[in-house]
Amino acid sequence: MVLVTGGARGLGLAIATHLHELGARVAVADRDADALAAVPSHFDRQVMDVTQPDAVKAGVADIVSRLGRIDVVVNNAGVISSEPFVNIMNPAGMMMDYGRFREAVAVNMDSVFIVTSAVVEHLVTRRGKGVIVNISSISGRGNEGQTAYSAAKAAVNAMTVTWSKELGRWGIRCNAVAPGFIGTPSTQAALSEDALRHIRDNTPLRRLGEAHEVAQAVVAVVENDFVNGVILDVNGGLSI
Ligand code: NAI
Repeated sequence: MVLVTGGARGLGLAIATHLHELGARVAVADRDADALAAVPSHFDRQVMDVTQPDAVKAGVADIVSRLGRIDVVVNNAGVISSEPFVNIMNPAGMMMDYGRFREAVAVNMDSVFIVTSAVVEHLVTRRGKGVIVNISSISGRGNEGQTAYSAAKAAVNAMTVTWSKELGRWGIRCNAVAPGFIGTPSTQAALSEDALRHIRDNTPLRRLGEAHEVAQAVVAVVENDFVNGVILDVNGGLSI
């Protein structure tokens, strides 16, 4: 049984779909109830805000009680967030707002801690082997205009390596997949046509990635029983 967070659209839905096609039973969790209602009915669906520890604990318990267990969790829910650290054009609020910084960190970093904590408690209690896959980003290396998002994804990478060391004794592996720029609606919304052209021109493969290529990377780290503590780049060779 695989749980994919933020699975109602975008990369999460592509990951859930690929896993389903390979024969896995998949539960998708998302805070957007309308989008969740529109996903194919072969998925189990759980409305859940991954920034809320009590709701996540209850949601994970609900999935386990209905479906029996969770073996794999894909921490995909997140929001691409861009804001310059200094905005000289806005003298009244020149510096990036701390509230927006915290919001971006909560949805991209705290969420990974909260969901993994609930799932690992379940795994350790039932003495089950398991796999955690965190969806990171190329921005985890530090990307101009993305202070909060970059910090959150760097922290996701650090938690991935930490958990790969700490959870191995229970037979739980932890890896991350770090996409570069993927041709999803969220990327189109976050970046101008000029920025996208610049990215294509600087990517050795001269194109954006595709959602199914991220899904294939997730499956690769789930399937190989000796892969642990890896941050797998899926970025066409682009480095920022
Ligand atoms: P998206 O915006 O298309 O989909 C994200 C999904 O997560 C949405 O269905 C949304 O409702 C859900 N979500 C957001 N906050 C949530 C919360 N608090 N609780 C529950 N669900 C929540 O985003 P996309 O592009 O598919 O990104 C998915 C993941 O991939 C994110 O972690 C993002 O940082 C990462 N990523 C995406 C890249 C891209 O090019 N699209 C590149 C690198 C990383």
